[in-house]
Amino acid sequence: MVVRVGIIGVGVMGADHARILVSHVPGCVLQAIYDADPARATAIAIETGAASIASDPHSLINSDNIDAVIVASPDSTHHDLTLACISANKPVLCEKPLAPSAAECLEIVNAEIAKGRRLVQTGYMRRFDPSYVDMKAALQSGQLGKALIFHCMHRNVSSPSWFTSKMAIANSAVHEFDVARWVLDVDFTQVSVFKPSAYSADPNGAPVFLVLSTSKGQLVNIEVYINATYGYDVRGELVCEKGVVSLSPSTNNDVSFNLQQARTYPADWRPRFAAAYRIQLVEWIKAIKAGTSVGASAWDGYAAAVISEAALLSLAEGRTVDVNVETKPNLYQ
Ligand SMILES: NC(=O)c1ccc[n+]([C@@H]2O[C@H](COP(=O)([O-])OP(=O)(O)OC[C@H]3O[C@@H](n4cnc5c(N)ncnc54)[C@H](O)[C@@H]3O)[C@@H](O)[C@H]2O)c1
Repeated sequence: MVVRVGIIGVGVMGADHARILVSHVPGCVLQAIYDADPARATAIAIETGAASIASDPHSLINSDNIDAVIVASPDSTHHDLTLACISANKPVLCEKPLAPSAAECLEIVNAEIAKGRRLVQTGYMRRFDPSYVDMKAALQSGQLGKALIFHCMHRNVSSPSWFTSKMAIANSAVHEFDVARWVLDVDFTQVSVFKPSAYSADPNGAPVFLVLSTSKGQLVNIEVYINATYGYDVRGELVCEKGVVSLSPSTNNDVSFNLQQARTYPADWRPRFAAAYRIQLVEWIKAIKAGTSVGASAWDGYAAAVISEAALLSLAEGRTVDVNVETKPNLYQ
């Protein structure tokens, strides 16, 4: 079986998914793409050799020539398009966030439960990143004892002025919410958000600092600094009772020159997580062929949205907020 994939939205992420599918993922073909910008769709179709360009997203989803769909259009489109894929019984890899609100994510979860099978994978690709996979394996080996504290850092070179502190939580920290839940195998129970008042430019560009408690009595702190200037940099350190696991540093080499040793950083997230994006798609196609599912589920997409909403409330009201995730349905156990 060759899985015929359609991609909706071929901007930065969708175009990258298209390139990865045609160059690195066995067992699939890029059958169709759709983008609200027809010129963009044409350019990516020519570049990747996509078999066709759809005239609208719903005809792509419902086409007999499409077996599975990637949704990489803007966040506001995810809910409706993912529901349409479930309704058409098509596996869908939806970019994060699964939907703009936890309530909309829950509608997707309920639609999937009504179908009785997992069709949705949420694009939290860090679950496929080799350094996080190693961290989880080290914890699961038991040698380090219990995990106590997970320090997470997420830094971008710079962000446009419309990228607010709220977006730093809802669009950036959500990656840490998901990967910390996955590494620790927990849910979060409380969140507090802080911002340093010492930041001298627009406060929306200041770092946000989150402290979360988990259902197993651990602490997770997350710094998201969208204007860190020096490079795209994701760090993580898991402090356990008998040892510490640190994420491998950025993929680039150290350069020794002129009496110094220096490391170069990528300008954005794509080089840092190139392996994760690749493995995510390889595993998604394998799972579709095997009739199984991998990666972050619709439920995980919902859980991340609940944490995000609690963190946004904490940011707005300057207090600790409870994180109330509903009981996990059997489909996701
Ligand atoms: N997993 C990750 O690491 C990661 C990183 C960045 C972005 N994202 C997510 O990926 C999604 C896309 O982000 P991006 O950075 O590629 O954005 P982008 O703006 O570069 O691309 C979005 C594309 O969607 C098209 N589009 C707009 N409205 C559409 C519609 N109604 N139907 C179909 N296409 C439409 C636009 O023309 C554009 O080509 C977002 O949901 C974002 O949150 C995920």
